[in-house]
Amino acid sequence: MSETTKLPPLRLGVNIDHVATVRNARGGDYPDPLRAAKLAEEAGADGITAHLREDRRHISDGDIDGLMAMLSVPLNFEMAATQEMQDIALRHKPHAVCIVPEKREEKTTEGGLEVAREENKLAHFIAPLRDAGCRVSIFIAAERRQIEAAHRIGAEVIELHTGGYCDAVAEGRDEAAAAELARLRDMSSFADSLGLEVHAGHGLTYDSVTPIAALPEVRELNIGHFLIGEAIFRGLTPAIAEMRRLMETARDQANAMGAA
Ligand code: PXP
Repeated sequence: MSETTKLPPLRLGVNIDHVATVRNARGGDYPDPLRAAKLAEEAGADGITAHLREDRRHISDGDIDGLMAMLSVPLNFEMAATQEMQDIALRHKPHAVCIVPEKREEKTTEGGLEVAREENKLAHFIAPLRDAGCRVSIFIAAERRQIEAAHRIGAEVIELHTGGYCDAVAEGRDEAAAAELARLRDMSSFADSLGLEVHAGHGLTYDSVTPIAALPEVRELNIGHFLIGEAIFRGLTPAIAEMRRLMETARDQANAMGAA
């Protein structure tokens, strides 16, 4: 890599779901996820992500209405592949729609979407969203067959699930973390070679973000739980600023290594 082939910038999407989790713990409307989204925007988020779950356990329909009305940065609307969610997405036409698997009993999105086995169904499901002008992203494990299937169904973006890598980092399982990272590196490069834009997310923290931010083909990270948790200790604006700093340092270092 030379000076002239610098890596493209890395965007940060801030997921505000868990501001709504805290709000919903008491009912009422405090803390307001829309206020957090505005603050995240001012703190340098390139986009806001919100997951409207079937059971509405955090983000509400009203939150999506509000985000669509007041955001200046793009909304990445996370949703399951259901008719109800498709109708909502088609009504709002957000910048991006990220299709995720969803189970009522799970605490969070546990795995990637099984695209390879549901190819026809998903191809039909995403076609109207694409026709409406939404960028369709599919949240998947870093597996070749899922990436190939996402490409075949006409997705423009894939988001690679970083949860396994982050768990290994958090638990000090260095070999497993290295293996997960190698898989994410190989699969982001493979997806890029097919013309897919590569995003990544789930479980990222200050301790795990740097190697992921240095992956050349990754263009966007979506981060929520850790940032909202960290906001308790240092405030949302500094929490986001520190994540941005780590991402930019990782990118600069990758560029410097490439140019050396
Ligand atoms: N990307 C996707 C597709 C997700 O479902 C989630 C969790 O809602 C995230 C990113 C963010 O994960 P976390 O909250 O662990 O940072």
